[in-house]
Amino acid sequence: MDGRIVDFEDAHIHVLNHTFHYGVGVFEGIRGYATARGAAIFRLPEHVRRLITSAKLYHMPIPFTAEQIERAVLETQAANDILPSYIRPIVYRGEPSLGVKNSKGKVSLAIAVIPAKKYLGEGSEEGVRAKISPFRKPHSDAIPSFAKASGNYTSSYLAGVDAQKDGYEEAILLDQNGFVAEGSGENIFLVRDEKLYTPGLESDILLGVTRKSVIQIATDLGYPVVEKLISMNELLTADEAFFTGTYAEIAPIKEISHFSIGEHTPGPITREILAVFQKAIRGDEPKYRDWLSIVPSLATRPLARARK
Ligand SMILES: Cc1ncc(COP(=O)(O)O)c(C=O)c1O
Repeated sequence: MDGRIVDFEDAHIHVLNHTFHYGVGVFEGIRGYATARGAAIFRLPEHVRRLITSAKLYHMPIPFTAEQIERAVLETQAANDILPSYIRPIVYRGEPSLGVKNSKGKVSLAIAVIPAKKYLGEGSEEGVRAKISPFRKPHSDAIPSFAKASGNYTSSYLAGVDAQKDGYEEAILLDQNGFVAEGSGENIFLVRDEKLYTPGLESDILLGVTRKSVIQIATDLGYPVVEKLISMNELLTADEAFFTGTYAEIAPIKEISHFSIGEHTPGPITREILAVFQKAIRGDEPKYRDWLSIVPSLATRPLARARK
């Protein structure tokens, strides 16, 4: 927290903090994996860049540079014997402050490392069931989707819980015009006639780091990827569909609101992309080795040694 390693039990902030009351905080979800070269963080610079962009959109100047934040993530991972890990940096105003228009209060950064679980449930790699949500993505004119902000997740929460209560693993949110946007915590792709399609920025999506990685992998495999407006009809009649996200990784979708997707889940192209992605996160794919930042060893981590 703000440059110090703090024990889990001591990681407190005041109940009247601004972020808690108004959702004005920005965060990241990052993954740590075990690789042959040791613990490694997947696409760390991309996540830190998005964190800084999110903070900028909410008038929250982070009092650390990108390099310092990257180093802090590596050192927090090094201080925790946890892999695979889910890493949560959060930028917040932690001091008591109930005025909504607080753009001047102290901005803090905390980074947590927790054990990663299967976000969409055990067996999700064999296919999940998703529901088209009655809750739509807010338009970016109201809540900028570029920013991964705490407040955005009231919408994800409502959609996700609605789907869960109906027995689905995940919700698919449409944008304000009725086009497909994304899952409550994932981007979405469909496959038709050996081409991939995914909603673009005009559907008020979060620009996912996994989405970007999948676009790269699919392109390198020779599959064209088209970013465009996607209607519900197109999604329901796709050959294949899958979610992408840091926590969910690549999750094939087998059913959407009682329509089965494709003939087999995962479909052949999803399976092919998934196989390359799994090699990439383990450091077994030389082409994507620079997607991993290796966590420094114990001897070179001054921050962790200063643990209180
Ligand atoms: C709403 C939303 N969309 C998309 C994503 C996927 O983004 P990424 O691949 O960067 O994790 C996430 C997860 O972070 C999310 O919460």
